[in-house]
Order: sequence, then C-alpha cells, then structure tokens
Amino acid sequence: MSPFLLTRTLPEDTTDAALRADVSHGLTRTPKTLPPKWFYDARGSELFEQITELPEYYPTRAEREILIARADEIAEATGARTLIELGSGSSEKTRHLLDALRELHTYVPVDVSESALTQAGVALAAERPDLDVHALIADFTGGLTLPDTPGPRLVAFLGGTIGNLMPAERAAFLSSVRSLLAPGDALLLGTDLVKDPSVLVDAYDDAAGVTAAFNKNVLSVVSRELGADFDLDAFGHVALWDAENEWIEMRLRSRREQTVKIPALDLAVDFADGEDVRTEVSAKFHKEGVRSELAAAGLDLAHWWTDEGGRFALSLSVAR
Ligand code: SAH
Ligand code: AVI
Repeated sequence: MSPFLLTRTLPEDTTDAALRADVSHGLTRTPKTLPPKWFYDARGSELFEQITELPEYYPTRAEREILIARADEIAEATGARTLIELGSGSSEKTRHLLDALRELHTYVPVDVSESALTQAGVALAAERPDLDVHALIADFTGGLTLPDTPGPRLVAFLGGTIGNLMPAERAAFLSSVRSLLAPGDALLLGTDLVKDPSVLVDAYDDAAGVTAAFNKNVLSVVSRELGADFDLDAFGHVALWDAENEWIEMRLRSRREQTVKIPALDLAVDFADGEDVRTEVSAKFHKEGVRSELAAAGLDLAHWWTDEGGRFALSLSVAR
C-alpha cells in the first residue's frame, strides 16, 4: 500500500472556537447567517454525496462529463507532479484526473471533513500504490501550509464550491491560491453557470427532500457541538434565486416564534415567525466574470470547457 498521511493543521479546539465565533456572530446579527462549512460533519458529508446522485442536481454529473473528456488535455497542459485538491470531499470525480496525470507523485486532498478525507484517502492509497496521498484537515479559506512536494503544482477546486464563498471572500481566496503556486503552475476550477432559474431552484430543492435534510444538518451540528436545543421540525428549507447577485440562497425559515438556547455560548436566540437564517449562497457564473476574477488574482485563463448542455464549466488558468 502507498503511504497515506492525515495531517490536522487545525487543532480541535481551534475548530471549536471558530464554530463558537461563527454561531455567536451569525445568530445575533440581522439578517441571521451561518457559514456553509459547518454542514459537513460525517452526516453532512454523506448527505452531500446523496445530493450528487439526485436527478435535479446536475453539477456533479456535468463536471464529471467534462473531466472525462478533458483529463488528458489537463495532464498534457500541466504535467503536474503534485495535485492539491481543495474541498476534496469523496475525491470521486478526481479519480479521472488522477488516472490521467502520468507524472503525478503526490495527491494532497484538503477538507474540513475528517470522515470524508479518511474514507477517500484510505481507498485511494489501497488502489494507487504508486501515489503518495497526504491528506490535510484544514480550512481552505485560512492560510494553507502545504507539504514540500515536487512541482509543477496543480490546484483543483471542483464542484462549484467557489460559489459558496461571498464575492470578497472569493477574491481573497483566489489570491491565497495564487500564493501557493509558482509561475506556470495551474488552477483547475469548477464553476456552475447562470441558467434558467427554475432549473437552479429545483437543484437546491429536490423532491426527495435530501437538500432540506442537508440544510437542516447545520442545526444538528450546532446542537451537538454547543448544546443548543434546535427543533429541526420548527424550521423549513428555502431555496431561492437572487437574480441581482446571480446566486442561489439556501435559508432555514422559522415556522413559528421561538427561542433557542445555546448553553455553550450562554446565549438565547429569538426567532420571529417566518424569520430566515441564510445558510449558504451558491453563486453561478459567466465566462467573462470568471476570467476577470482569476486575472485580478494573477491567474490567466488558458482553457474553458463546458459540458454538452453548457450548464457547468471547468477552467484551467496559469499563474503569472
Ligand atoms: N469537491 C467535491 C465535494 C464538494 S462539497 C465535489 O465536487 O463533489 C464541498 C466540500 O468542501 C465538502 O467536502 C466540505 O467538507 C468542504 N469544505 C467546505 N468548506 C470548507 C472550508 N472552508 N475548508 C475546507 N473544506 C471545506
Ligand atoms: C459544495 N457546493 C458546491 C454545493 C453547491 O451546489 O453549492 C453545496 C450544496 N448545497 C446544496 N446542494 C449542494
């Protein structure tokens, strides 16, 4: 078996402190918010995998189609010896890339979900004895410290997860990615594209209710970690299209007037009947917008590939 190393760059109490800060800040402001990274405990990661199989949720299938069609071109263009994947989750689609990258020496999956990283890392190490797998439990929005591995480096950020960052966070994130790269190294970025709002809303409000369960999972995480007494039945799942910002917004809507106690924060949070907590934005993009955001971070768009249906794009950009 090849080496599989799991490194935690965030001490557990840092994670706890970050959750406390996010919850106390997000639930005491108006409108209320909770950041999407707290969806992904073991159950949240499992629910996300179920979402990727839903008939309404096209992004995973569309991106996989592009990866299958373009993996050889990506390998040829980058010659990558180290692949760093941010928010790698199950690493399932990444296998197409791992198979095509002939020169690859080390794969560095980075995620906040320890369960997803461990499952993916153990499976890959067994399947690919030739490959070093160095998994990192880390927040990709904080400064990452990467292992010292051979270049060229390719950073992959798939799934459209960049759309879960707010615009200012995106700019800071892309600059931090650029700082991980040497000139000529590359970023492979998945972006979901603007399309008919009804297709988008259905993708985030599926008939089987899996996305609703995923959305409510953040309340379970806060209840378990901070002792809160959220009643999941007292909140409804909402997905709406914000045409001005061109993003889907997921919210949890209080079904009644209620007060939720959060003992670890010594906090009682009042909710009005119908009051929303914004739990996620999922921005959708146009090619020129992606090009200019990349350029502002010192990354030049070199390739732009879409699926047959033109729903999703994968771009390859090169560090200046
Ligand atoms: N790339 C995979 C998974 C996408 S789901 C795919 O395309 O299917 C988003 C992933 O990003 C989850 O595994 C989640 O745990 C991780 N994630 C979310 N916010 C994160 C953050 N701030 N830092 C690191 N990982 C994060
Ligand atoms: C991880 N990310 C790209 C997903 C998305 O589509 O924004 C998360 C998700 N939220 C609801 N469904 C899926």
